[in-house]
Amino acid sequence: MEATIVSDTAKHYPVLLKEVISVISPQHGGTFIDCTFGQGGYAKEILKYKDTKVIGLDRDKDSQIIADKIYNKFPDRFLFKNIKFSKLNNLKLSNENIKGIIFDLGYSFTQMKDPKKGLSFNHIGNLNMQLGYNNFSASDVINQLDEKNLYKIFKYFGDEKEAKFISKNIVRERAIKKINTEDLVKIIENTKRKKNFKTHSATKVFQALRIFVNKEVSELIFGLINSAKILKKDGILAVVSFHSLEDKIIKYFFKNLTESKSFSRYEPKTEQRKFYFKMPSKKPIVPSEKELKDNPSSRSAKLRYLIKKDNIYKIETDIIDQFHELLEIENLSFKL
Ligand SMILES: C[S@@+](CC[C@H](N)C(=O)[O-])C[C@H]1O[C@@H](n2cnc3c(N)ncnc32)[C@H](O)[C@@H]1O
Repeated sequence: MEATIVSDTAKHYPVLLKEVISVISPQHGGTFIDCTFGQGGYAKEILKYKDTKVIGLDRDKDSQIIADKIYNKFPDRFLFKNIKFSKLNNLKLSNENIKGIIFDLGYSFTQMKDPKKGLSFNHIGNLNMQLGYNNFSASDVINQLDEKNLYKIFKYFGDEKEAKFISKNIVRERAIKKINTEDLVKIIENTKRKKNFKTHSATKVFQALRIFVNKEVSELIFGLINSAKILKKDGILAVVSFHSLEDKIIKYFFKNLTESKSFSRYEPKTEQRKFYFKMPSKKPIVPSEKELKDNPSSRSAKLRYLIKKDNIYKIETDIIDQFHELLEIENLSFKL
């Protein structure tokens, strides 16, 4: 989800719910891993089909409350783990017939509305952005990293055109006082010369900070790799993304698993590579007119999916090399 102005009456909608369910076909039964359980929107829908089992994962411990309610209703068919999805392969899953793995990336409206989480540029004070299992907050980043490194985060994780001047002004202002949410929003607004009337001036910087604080690039890369490994024959890997950086990583990975490309100069004939996945459509599925009307913040959602053709654990991909520059930016956190 994109950073948006939050109204207290707004409610959580599972994005592209009908489309995700249609792609993963729970009516045929099997185990489904909902890597981003959140408010349980997808999990509840899958559990309506009686031969299914759902393993829900979420890094946010607040999801446990909803998970407990679902567990009370379906103790034999539902399990929740408060872990990051990059750790998917630590689960003991060898006996499970995994038919679908789903990612609905980012954060939920409920998290956005929670002032403690400090995700919104509307909330006073708390520049936090930690979703769970973090080592530092957005406040640590803004108040401690040097100008050059702030610039890299805003530019590469937020595609912020004014990254250079925003970073410069942050460093100047924090010499006077510790920067909180309102200060950061003011600095961004005062720095940006051109106003965009569709999105708030702070959207990109806030997105970049959230990606950095939660190491979302490596989470996504390792989450995808591990999912592709553990999925069973005919299993579906379905991913809903919300911004171009996520979509770029997903598109690259899906292409890797389905199109000829040599990853090694010692591999003489690329045609001999076997592909264990198929991609029914290169085009993403996007929200319907109705969904856009009911839930305007779904506007940037894109659903892509792959089908696994064989029970094979080995995955050939160069995704880590391809995105090594972004992974290096994530590692700037070691300076904190
Ligand atoms: C957009 S919400 C998902 C909403 C969910 N589909 C529903 O219908 O309620 C994304 C959720 O993923 C969780 N999340 C984000 N990154 C994660 C990660 N690396 N590992 C586990 N959970 C993650 C967030 O805490 C949030 O609850």
